[in-house]
Amino acid sequence: VALLFYSSVLSGEAWVRALRAESPELDIRLLPDIGDPDEIDCVLSWRPPPGTFARLKNLRLVYGTGAGVDQLLADPELPPDVPIVRVVDDAQTDDMVAFVLAIVLGWHRKLDVIRAQQAAKLWSRPPFRSVRDVRVGVMGLGALGRATAERLAMVGFDVAGWNRSPRDIPGVEVHHGPDGLGAFLARTECLIVLLPLTDATRDILNADLFARLPPGAYLVSVGRGPHLVEADLLRALDQGQLSGATLDVFREEPLPQDHLFWTHPKITVTPHVASLASPESVAKQIVENLRRLYAGEPLLNQIDRVAGY
Ligand SMILES: NC(=O)c1ccc[n+]([C@@H]2O[C@H](COP(=O)([O-])OP(=O)(O)OC[C@H]3O[C@@H](n4cnc5c(N)ncnc54)[C@H](OP(=O)(O)O)[C@@H]3O)[C@@H](O)[C@H]2O)c1
Repeated sequence: VALLFYSSVLSGEAWVRALRAESPELDIRLLPDIGDPDEIDCVLSWRPPPGTFARLKNLRLVYGTGAGVDQLLADPELPPDVPIVRVVDDAQTDDMVAFVLAIVLGWHRKLDVIRAQQAAKLWSRPPFRSVRDVRVGVMGLGALGRATAERLAMVGFDVAGWNRSPRDIPGVEVHHGPDGLGAFLARTECLIVLLPLTDATRDILNADLFARLPPGAYLVSVGRGPHLVEADLLRALDQGQLSGATLDVFREEPLPQDHLFWTHPKITVTPHVASLASPESVAKQIVENLRRLYAGEPLLNQIDRVAGY
């Protein structure tokens, strides 16, 4: 098996180390010396540089190094019939949950206000609300969203979720489909977005959606940047329809230096750090999927190319 690591943004060394530790016999190729392209069976990639796939005539598997595959599917040269697999990883899920908890708890307990008060040596208690009275909502109840909703509920928040298909999650009020969106939004004071980026979810965070949230709601966007209509967010913040937002993902990454979000007083910018699949944690499932590929067995975490996730 020859596996090519190909990314325009990630260095491959940690992946090579982790994969070699898991499977010493694996033939791993790295740019610029990929050897004979006809020998490459599998590409492991994040944001492949243009022209990647056109050179690989015998490709049998494309492996994304993260949970989202939108950057792979956007490649016009992606061969139509090759299976695409993504990462689903418990450690990555734990990290996403921890990140969202940090943001939601900081928002709920007004840590930014308290820090500003400390700077002014001001002893003043913000209005108190019990965690049990605070209604948070998670859009997208997949591997990451479901765990996030469950653990927000464990902390004590009043949690709802919204998903394409129904879900049964103890302690979480689940809404689904376009018909369920209105009721979900109407009760959600803090909206956490963990949807994949697809044609159906692009631009979903827009003026119409913000207007259906309770006035003063807070947004935590951790799925993908193109979910958000940026001008609509700025207007909703100016008008007080939203009280603030933490954004981890952006239409253009890195966020351009002159972007308004950097200095907006109601926006917290985090540089796509919510969670990252670590090579050490993921190498085992890659090797297992290569074994399955050659044994003709069903692959783990294969995405549905029509649905786009
Ligand atoms: N910021 C970061 O650091 C970071 C890190 C990792 C991942 N992410 C993002 O997080 C996303 C979610 O990851 P995941 O592993 O949880 O994905 P996943 O397991 O594929 O889950 C996606 C969920 O979204 C639901 N969904 C899809 N389209 C929908 C629609 N149109 N309306 C309502 N619900 C819809 C799906 O519902 P059904 O199952 O019913 O179809 C599914 O439950 C990734 O795609 C990636 O973009 C961000």
